[in-house]
Amino acid sequence: MQISINSNQIEHLTTLLKEKAFVLYDTLVEYGHDETEDLSYPPAIVLKPTSVSEISEIMRYCHAEKIPVTPAGARTGLSGGSLPIHGGVLLSMEKFNKILKIDEKNHQVITEPGVITQVLQDTVKEKGLFYPPDPASKGSCFIGGNVSENSGGPKAVKYGVTKDYVLNLEVVLPTGEVIWTGANVLKNATGYNLTQLMVGSEGTLAIITKIVLKLIPHPTHDLLMLVPFFDAQKACEAVAAIFQAGITPSGLEFMERDALIWTKEFMGETSVPVADNHQAHLLIEVDGFDQEQLMLECEKIFAVLENFETDEILFADSEAQKTTLWSLRRKVAEAVKAQSIYKEEDTVVPRFALPELLYQVKEIGKKYGFKSVCYGHAGDGNLHVNIIKGDLSDEFWEKELSLAIREIFTQVIKLGGTISGEHGIGLVQKQYMDIAFPEITLNLMRQIKGVFDPNRILNPGKIF
Ligand code: LAC
Ligand code: ZN
Repeated sequence: MQISINSNQIEHLTTLLKEKAFVLYDTLVEYGHDETEDLSYPPAIVLKPTSVSEISEIMRYCHAEKIPVTPAGARTGLSGGSLPIHGGVLLSMEKFNKILKIDEKNHQVITEPGVITQVLQDTVKEKGLFYPPDPASKGSCFIGGNVSENSGGPKAVKYGVTKDYVLNLEVVLPTGEVIWTGANVLKNATGYNLTQLMVGSEGTLAIITKIVLKLIPHPTHDLLMLVPFFDAQKACEAVAAIFQAGITPSGLEFMERDALIWTKEFMGETSVPVADNHQAHLLIEVDGFDQEQLMLECEKIFAVLENFETDEILFADSEAQKTTLWSLRRKVAEAVKAQSIYKEEDTVVPRFALPELLYQVKEIGKKYGFKSVCYGHAGDGNLHVNIIKGDLSDEFWEKELSLAIREIFTQVIKLGGTISGEHGIGLVQKQYMDIAFPEITLNLMRQIKGVFDPNRILNPGKIF
């Protein structure tokens, strides 16, 4: 594969896209990064098409000329999925920002990929409908990026992740043809499921141009509580116990002590108490359509928590307090980033193995001498492990740390889990794919990639 682009090719693309093509240095630098660490790979040209036919033309040309094309949404990703590591074209989908149709009769929405997830959620909520997947970055990320990475978020524990809502996709193939992957139906047993193959394919198989999503009735009530634990592992043990008591919370989030303290500092928040002996917190939400039913569920949760040593539970008594508690949880990643250079590992294990995972992460930390701050979607067994650089040497960070991460991922697999729950593999986790899959499986994936993208121009250097 050619991994560059020459000045004639840049000129051709500029002529094709006119005022929607950008080669100014500042723009290239801006589009050369996402939210992954401090990585930066400026492309040679940024294209911001406004129509499917433009994308089709770009792809046909780049396929013929073997020019790398990296599609990008809002670039909020944490695995480097939208970094144009081979230069070439950065194809920004930001102008595809319209919700095309809310089909109230069928509880579906048809949207373009560049719509901000929260805007989509708020718009369908006006009709009493609910699109649940809510990554922490929902206020800025695009729905197209969520589909590409199969994003999750706190609500996934009750409502599922992005894949559970994608019914059908219009995509432009790397060779320029435009196809629909399925049908706008809730059941579909017609051939291979290309729709779900696209979901989570990290922009390596096709460019998503339209998305059909399933919606559900929006719950009318929710209750939220913050539970302090004196022992972080006990907090993790309480998670499975809550489910075993027959409750499915709509959010069950874990925050280690420093995750909450750093985020409070970051936000300048003073109303939520964290005592010296609070080692971790669970943020627990239940939702539904009947307030009394929710109170009963909370009572059941309190009964479960009595078996664990907790301090006084903070029960949110206003919408403002709910917003504060959720912001504290949603801003942990930003707060950690503001604190230190760090690496984020998106581990996931079956829920009951969560306490063991936390233990293993801390043991590996002791062995290698790093501090980690853990938080995440405990109800899904999805633990974000943030390894903090702090005073560690650059040499350790560049060379030895990957050995420690390999150990963490090896434990994750032993516990029946896998190496990314919702952030994707992208660029930064691909070196660990051999831990998750044997060569035969990786080869199947590589062959699938080749079927869609014979010249391997689309988002090259990702996943494998
Ligand atoms: C979160 C993002 C980092 O859960 O996935 O905050
Ligand atoms: Zn998360």
